[in-house]
Amino acid sequence: MLSLGLVVLSAALATHASWSQLALPRTYPNISQCVDLPVQYSCENTTAFASSCCNVVQGGLVLQTQFWSTYTGLEREGQLLPAGSWTIHGLWPDNCDGSYDQYCDLSRQYDPSPDPSKLPDGTPVPPYKGPGVQTFIEEFGRVDLLGYMNTFWINQGAPNEDFWAHEFSKHATCTSTFDTACYGSDYKEHMEVVNFYETVTKVFQMYPTYNMFAASGVLPSNKTTYSLTQLQSALRSQTGATPYVGCSGNGTVLDEVWYFHHVLGTEQYGHFKTLHSTTNSTCNESGIWYYERTPTSERPVSY
Ligand SMILES: *[C@@H]1O[C@H](CO)[C@@H](O)[C@H](O)[C@H]1NC(C)=O
Ligand SMILES: *[C@@H]1O[C@H](CO)[C@@H](O)[C@H](O)[C@H]1NC(C)=O
Ligand SMILES: *[C@@H]1O[C@H](CO)[C@@H](O)[C@H](O)[C@H]1NC(C)=O
Ligand SMILES: *[C@@H]1O[C@H](CO)[C@@H](O)[C@H](O)[C@H]1NC(C)=O
Ligand SMILES: *[C@@H]1O[C@H](CO)[C@@H](O)[C@H](O)[C@H]1NC(C)=O
Ligand SMILES: *[C@@H]1O[C@H](CO)[C@@H](O)[C@H](O)[C@H]1NC(C)=O
Repeated sequence: MLSLGLVVLSAALATHASWSQLALPRTYPNISQCVDLPVQYSCENTTAFASSCCNVVQGGLVLQTQFWSTYTGLEREGQLLPAGSWTIHGLWPDNCDGSYDQYCDLSRQYDPSPDPSKLPDGTPVPPYKGPGVQTFIEEFGRVDLLGYMNTFWINQGAPNEDFWAHEFSKHATCTSTFDTACYGSDYKEHMEVVNFYETVTKVFQMYPTYNMFAASGVLPSNKTTYSLTQLQSALRSQTGATPYVGCSGNGTVLDEVWYFHHVLGTEQYGHFKTLHSTTNSTCNESGIWYYERTPTSERPVSY
């Protein structure tokens, strides 16, 4: 993985003259207007917010969501799960009351299979047919980010980049600090898409779910089950808050964890305060399977 990454990187360096300066195009927003404003956590005192670029005004209850799945369905094409790690689902903006908006800017609709295909007010969300979001990341030279995403942000039954596009267009377009207006007058198209993906990987790394569980003795097993309390307590002991723990199979198969936050400053660089879940678990009280993966669906990864 690492050596492949280096080969790709040096190939890219050799073909892009501008890279000789070793500085990649910027993807950060322009928040110079924010430096003297009061800081406050999202959802807590929104009267203090003077700018939606400086604070998460829309979608201030922020969820970092992760998946546990045992296969990808595209193993034969090399789409494998990272051994010893959960995978990224996304970074979602909920309104402070638990409701949420979606597909908030159809001019940035990159999702090839919108879900839902119609908004609650009846507006259709047209399927996207242009170049995949992978090309946006490549335009900014971020082969490192792409490598990370292809390792830890894995789709089931369809290519990874379709999933990344879905997460951006459905969710990030409803987070105020990723509005294109926050990137200044020399904004370049797709800058905020790359910036969102960087942000997702940063917040994901705050929560090494596999290792938090494993270190508490909760390991994937096809022989023993766990209780909901065991799962919640293991994670709460490291985060101080009870995350949402999700199950499929009528409450019997662990497959998701969501970590809740209020954010101080921007979602990109601000501080995330971990909070209790506002959503009840869908798992049974006991008898929960945390399945071992199919060995041929995994590959070793470095962190
Ligand atoms: C950022 O925006 C400020 C105005 O708010 C402007 O003066 C400054 O030049 C901008 N910086 C960049 C790097 O675009
Ligand atoms: C909310 O923010 C405003 C503006 O900064 C401030 O005047 C007010 O005291 C704050 N309220 C609380 C409860 O912190
Ligand atoms: C869930 O329960 C319903 C009703 O008991 C049953 O019909 C269904 O097959 C179950 N699904 C799974 C995945 O176990
Ligand atoms: C969550 O569960 C508690 C306790 O069973 C219940 O009182 C509450 O109404 C539930 N909340 C939701 C949103 O379903
Ligand atoms: C899950 O919990 C429900 C409600 O307590 C129960 O009816 C169901 O049988 C449980 N499922 C299994 C497979 O234990
Ligand atoms: C464990 O069980 C799951 C669910 O049935 C299955 O997909 C997986 O291949 C099994 N893993 C091992 C190592 O047997």
